[in-house]
Amino acid sequence: MKILFVSSEVAPLAKVGGLADVVGSLPRALRSLGHDVRILMPQYDGLDERFPLTPVIPGYALSFEPETVSLNVTTVKDVPVYLLENHRYFGTREVYHNDLERFYFFSRAVFEILPEWDFQPDIVHCHDWLTALLVLWQKKAGQPYKHVFSIHNLAYQGFFDANFKYFPELTRDWDGSPPGTPPVPFTYMSQAVLRADLVTTVSPTYAREITTPELGVGLDTLLRFRNDSLLGIVNGLDQQDWNPQIDPLIPLNYSAADLHNRRYNKIALQRVSGLPVDSQIPLIGMVQRLDEQKGLDILGPGLDRLLNESNAQIVILGRGQDNYEKLLRDVTERYPRQAAGIVAFEEPLARLIYAGCDIFLMPSRFEPCGLGQLIAMRYGAIPVVRHTGGLVDTVPAFNADLTRGAGFVFHEYASGTLVDSVLQAVSMYKNQALWQAAVARVMGLDYSWSVSARLYEKAYQRVLNGNAH
Ligand code: GLC
Repeated sequence: MKILFVSSEVAPLAKVGGLADVVGSLPRALRSLGHDVRILMPQYDGLDERFPLTPVIPGYALSFEPETVSLNVTTVKDVPVYLLENHRYFGTREVYHNDLERFYFFSRAVFEILPEWDFQPDIVHCHDWLTALLVLWQKKAGQPYKHVFSIHNLAYQGFFDANFKYFPELTRDWDGSPPGTPPVPFTYMSQAVLRADLVTTVSPTYAREITTPELGVGLDTLLRFRNDSLLGIVNGLDQQDWNPQIDPLIPLNYSAADLHNRRYNKIALQRVSGLPVDSQIPLIGMVQRLDEQKGLDILGPGLDRLLNESNAQIVILGRGQDNYEKLLRDVTERYPRQAAGIVAFEEPLARLIYAGCDIFLMPSRFEPCGLGQLIAMRYGAIPVVRHTGGLVDTVPAFNADLTRGAGFVFHEYASGTLVDSVLQAVSMYKNQALWQAAVARVMGLDYSWSVSARLYEKAYQRVLNGNAH
C-alpha cells in the first residue's frame, strides 16, 4: 500500500507534543511491514542540518492566493519526509501561532499540489485538526484517495466563527448536518470526522469516551453517527529512540537485568533537582505540559498531604499555564527538601526523570493515549495513573503483591484519591524485593509498535476494500 501521512509535527524535525512522536515512528513500523509510507509536513524555519533537502517541485503557483510553494524532500531514518515550503506562512521556527490561517493555507496548498506529484498514495492519513481540511477538499473534489483521519486530542479542533478570514469559503463547502444529528460545530476537525473513510483515535478507551457528552467536546453526536467507522488503536513507543540500554542522554545506561545501575541516575536526578541525595527515599517524577488536561488542578491541593504524610520527594518538569507554573515554584519554595518544580522543557532532563524516578505520576483528567507512562515503564519508573483514555489500555492495575499489572490506578478525579494512590505506591516501595521485581517485569512488557502497526495495516486494507466498518 502507498500511504501519505500529513501532519503539523514530525519528530525529530518539529516537535511540540506526542503527535510528533507518533508520526515520527509509526511510518517506520509500517514500512517494515512492506508498505510505501511517506510523510508530508510544513517546512518550518531552522530545520536541523542533518536532514539535507532535495527539491521535488519548485515554485508552484497556487490558484487561491498569489503565493507559490515548493516541495522538498529529506529522509528521516529511511522514511521520506516531504516539506512544503512557503516563506510567508511557515518561515518561522514556531510550529503553532495563527494556526487557523496557516493551516488553511497548508491544506489548500497540499490539495492543489498533490495531484502533480509522481508519488500518488492510495491513502491519505491526516492527523489532528490542523490537516483536517485536506480531507474535506479532496473528498469534495472527488480526488481518488481514501482517507484516514486520526484524532490525537479532541480538545483541539480548530474552532472558527464568522470573523475568520476564510469563513465564506469554508461555509460554502460545509457539510453541516448529517441525517439525525444536530448541526456540527464550526471546527476544522468536524469535517474530517464527517468525511474520512475511517476515523481513528489513539486508544480504544478514548474512542469510546469521545462518543459521550462528557468527553465529546461538542462532537460526540457526530462521533456516534460515525461509530461504525471509528477505531481506537493504542500508540506504540519507538524501541530505538526510547531504550535505557543505549540512551545517550542519560548518565548511566541500564537494563532490567542490572537495575542497580539505575540508582546512579536517581542520584543524578536528585542532585540536579537540588534535592537531598539519598537513594532510599522514594522519588516521584512528572513530565508534562502544564494544562487542564493533565490533572494539575487536583495535584495542587493534594501536595501538602502527600509531602507531610510521607518522606517522598517529587520532581515536576513542565511549562504551560501561569497558575501551574506558579504552583511549581510555590511547592519548591515551601518544601525545599522534598519538591523540585522545574519550569522548563528540556529533553535530557525529561529523560533523566524517566530514568531516575521510582514512581511516575500521570493524574490526567482525560488522556487520548499518553506517551509518558509508556516511556516511564520502559525506563523502570512505576506509573501512578488516573483511570482514563489510553492510560486504561496501557496501565493495568497491580494486584496485591505486584506480580500482575503495571501500575497504580485511581478512578475518581479528585485530590484525595490521587494522594491515596501515590501514598499506596510509596508504601509498597518500602518492600524493595517486591518493588524491584515489579520494575524488572514492567520494563519487559511490550509497548512497541509491532501490534499496533498491524492493526493500522488491517484498517488501511479494509478502507481500500471499501469496507471500513
Ligand atoms: C496528544 C494526546 C496524547 C497522545 C498524543 C499522541 O498529545 O494528548 O494523549 O498520546 O497526542 O497520540
